[in-house]
Amino acid sequence: MSEPLVLGIESSCDETGVGIVRGTEMLANAVASSVDLHVRFGGVVPEVASRAHLEAMVPTLEQAYAQAGVRVEDVDAIAVTCGPGLTGALLVGVAAAKALAIAHDKPLYGVNHLVGHVAVDQLEHGRLDERVGALLVSGGHTEILLVDDIATDVTMLGTTIDDAAGEAFDKVARLLGLPYPGGPHIDREAQRGSTTAIPFPRALTKDRDLQRHRYDFSFSGLKSAVARHVQHEQRMGREVAVADVAASFQDAVCDVLSAKAIEACRANDVDTLVVGGGVAANGRLRALVEERASAAGLTVRVPRPGLCTDNGAMIAALGAEVVRRGLPPSSLDLPADSSMPV
Ligand code: KG4
Ligand code: ZN
Repeated sequence: MSEPLVLGIESSCDETGVGIVRGTEMLANAVASSVDLHVRFGGVVPEVASRAHLEAMVPTLEQAYAQAGVRVEDVDAIAVTCGPGLTGALLVGVAAAKALAIAHDKPLYGVNHLVGHVAVDQLEHGRLDERVGALLVSGGHTEILLVDDIATDVTMLGTTIDDAAGEAFDKVARLLGLPYPGGPHIDREAQRGSTTAIPFPRALTKDRDLQRHRYDFSFSGLKSAVARHVQHEQRMGREVAVADVAASFQDAVCDVLSAKAIEACRANDVDTLVVGGGVAANGRLRALVEERASAAGLTVRVPRPGLCTDNGAMIAALGAEVVRRGLPPSSLDLPADSSMPV
């Protein structure tokens, strides 16, 4: 079969995304974000996100058709994120995908959002045709995956036991009086600060924790340590050194993320690490991953920022791999699964 033309729909969090790909070639990637609506709440409000998806879905579909110069009648299949994510938000994308599949008699494929974050790299750097490791870091997830086959064989090696990495950035930014979403602001402040100014903790890195949590993460203790530091400075009547706190906090997060991801690759005989999710834009994380990967003889693949954050092209890219392998379509009863495993 020639490369399949696939429409992908993403609505698991606060981005409504529609992408169209032909195999590993991206033809369209239209994204409408509701992030501005969540700013005053300091985080994504599920009900607000669901409503925004409803309003954005049809215009985003039309934008994608126009970008690609194709009609929905032309596509070979429709792929949609069916989990993990916010249930109400997922349901909007799943309902839209079902409606298109029924109306145009197209096969429907429910796919996993996390695996989509890895598959999207194919649109930038070509097909992943050997076993790879993946580090996914965003406001909603923090995972290390082992990918033997992008469509059929993905294993989760580790995840966060409390906050996601991006969530930690957002919460610490708030403590420092920086706007939401806080990651880019911390990244910028940190450039003027010292990574060693404050010795923040690196959770789950001690021998006794590694036995049970070798590739897992924990960031809530780190966030509390930042809160205690800020309160202490205020009690002492000192101005909080925002740049130093940002740099030291950021280093604590990126040190653990990069060390565990590289170790997972080495322990599993993997030569390539794919990094994805919004936090992959972080300067310190990229530098540490590059430095440690190069020392370990690993190749790092990081898609450009617009493909690292949630989008529809990542879902279309994964859908195309599922179609290529001739796997059976999903039922039209396809449910949304907020905690869907990989
Ligand atoms: O993938 P994404 O756009 O949405 C989901 O959460 O699914 O990721 C957004 C997260 C936010 O927590 C944001 O603060 C974080 O990514 N982020 C960053 C940077 N840019 C975005 N975190 C650290 N450094 C950055 N440069
Ligand atoms: Zn995501």
